[in-house]
Amino acid sequence: MCGIVGYSGKRDAVKILLSGLSKLEYRGYDSAGIAVCGDSGAVEIRKSKGRLTELEKKLGDGVITGHVGIGHTRWATHGEPSDVNSHPHKSGMVTLVHNGIIENYVKLRDKLKTRGKSFASDTDTEVVAALIDRYYIGDAVEAIFTAAAMLRGSYALAVMFDDRPGEVYAIRKDSPLVVGKGADEIIIASDIPAFLSETRDYYLLDENEIAVVKDGGVKFYDYVKGFHEKELMTATWDVEAAEKGGYPHFMLKEMHEQPATLRDTVFPRISESGKILENELKDTSFIKQIRIVGCGSAMHAGLLGKAFIEKYARVPVTVDIASEFRYSSPVFNEGDVIVLISQSGETADSLAVTKLAKEKGIKTIGIVNVVGSSIARAVDNVVYTNAGPEIAVATTKAYTAQVAVLYLLGLRLAKDRGTIDDARYGEIVAAMRAIPEKAAEVLTHEDEYKRLASIYQGAHDMFFIGRGQDSALCCEGSLKLKEISYMHSEAYAAGELKHGTISLITEGVPVVAVATTEAMLEKTVSNVKEVSARGAAVIFVSQLEAEGGFYKEKIVLPTLDEAVMPILAIIPMQLFAYYVAIARGCDVDKPRNLAKSVTVE
Ligand code: F6R
Repeated sequence: MCGIVGYSGKRDAVKILLSGLSKLEYRGYDSAGIAVCGDSGAVEIRKSKGRLTELEKKLGDGVITGHVGIGHTRWATHGEPSDVNSHPHKSGMVTLVHNGIIENYVKLRDKLKTRGKSFASDTDTEVVAALIDRYYIGDAVEAIFTAAAMLRGSYALAVMFDDRPGEVYAIRKDSPLVVGKGADEIIIASDIPAFLSETRDYYLLDENEIAVVKDGGVKFYDYVKGFHEKELMTATWDVEAAEKGGYPHFMLKEMHEQPATLRDTVFPRISESGKILENELKDTSFIKQIRIVGCGSAMHAGLLGKAFIEKYARVPVTVDIASEFRYSSPVFNEGDVIVLISQSGETADSLAVTKLAKEKGIKTIGIVNVVGSSIARAVDNVVYTNAGPEIAVATTKAYTAQVAVLYLLGLRLAKDRGTIDDARYGEIVAAMRAIPEKAAEVLTHEDEYKRLASIYQGAHDMFFIGRGQDSALCCEGSLKLKEISYMHSEAYAAGELKHGTISLITEGVPVVAVATTEAMLEKTVSNVKEVSARGAAVIFVSQLEAEGGFYKEKIVLPTLDEAVMPILAIIPMQLFAYYVAIARGCDVDKPRNLAKSVTVE
């Protein structure tokens, strides 16, 4: 959601800014712009509604050159997508780009108006520029700190001043910014892929710490420490991991990476003696109840985690959507642990829950993909999902990695509590180790999922039904389909259909029915018969044998312990959604209205 790039060095700033912004396109945006400090010292701004190609056309209008600049891709929050609302914004001496939302911008704008400031756009960002300008009397750091102290909400800012031609300043709160360090150059960005082709070395900017970038170098400043040194980190992700690698879309590539990513998630977490998550969780005896919190697919992974943990570890688990949980006055008991699940580690509502947990003294565990992200840093314990950079907006490999980590957590808790016998523990551990190979097997049937997609791509509605773990799985299958193909779709617990939704089943309506557990097979099949009797075209997803006649198509899953089968069962649904979206001409990697990293609430 919005992307920032800033550059100071010896090379052509326009080129680096555009290249960095293109790597951040996955975050979702509807307009883009850059400001470059030209060789004359003047700051030149170009911005445009639409994709980066629109901006590039504008850049063709007048040549702008320089070695210092800032750039932005905007996902509209305050004010429609338009040229004037695009970033950078300029007020007086100050030009800046901003990610996040300033909650008190109306009040601030009104005050600034009484002091003679005028505003061209509808954005909260222009207010920040005016505020910094109001306090700028020669000391850039002081002006930024003073303005930041007055802002309520979230921000990542890259700022330039008219009278400081070689300099870029950056600050963040609740919105990510990383500072890449190359040889004699600095690239500030919202996310590492923006500079991965230039450098792997980077600094993590802390909350309300200022990066002062000058002549290709950087210094860090905060109020307590003053100017200080920071640890230089090295990204383990390589450029290929952040590129399409010959696939037409990131989403397809990421689905195909799942055998490898699941191996990276699972294998390092199981020791040779069969102990799990030893490095990440020294002790689990304090855990009495787990409160899983996340958004979207991360929350869906949590639903599968609940089913597994309750079954094998006998620890009660609640699952909540972060945006609801944070405002719901949750009741906490001693021994509660909040497990936050997030691919990006920057989702605003999930991050807010880590803060709530701190206030209430509740312990937190993060299941996070992006190393060093805000949630990863805020939680007491972090288990990284090791899925590598996920660029497609719709999550696939990060979701299966989240589920795998939850299963590992469940196994560890079960072992520590003695709620699982050694034989069953050994079976599930063996199944976890077999997942990568079995996931590869599922992927070999891609043509079959594509064939089904070509049959059902014209449908108006689609339903996903299952019981228990399969009901949780259906939530994800349905979300995947609707978010990238725009086909209306709903997930239902199969036993719940007759309480209302079955009235929507008419001749030919496609229903994906999932049955991965012996215990629920008969019950699910009887619900499926109810829909097929009303004309539904059933696609049955299972590794189990069931008397035929009630489905039109069957997706046969490989044999594997049913406890971990959901990790395999989602893959055909991901690929089905992908091919439906392709058949419907959708932009699968960047679905309309969606952003990869939802850094505003
Ligand atoms: C759907 C999807 C979203 C995310 C959600 C949480 O495909 O990707 O539903 O799962 O926005 O994002 P993270 O995991 O980054 O907190």
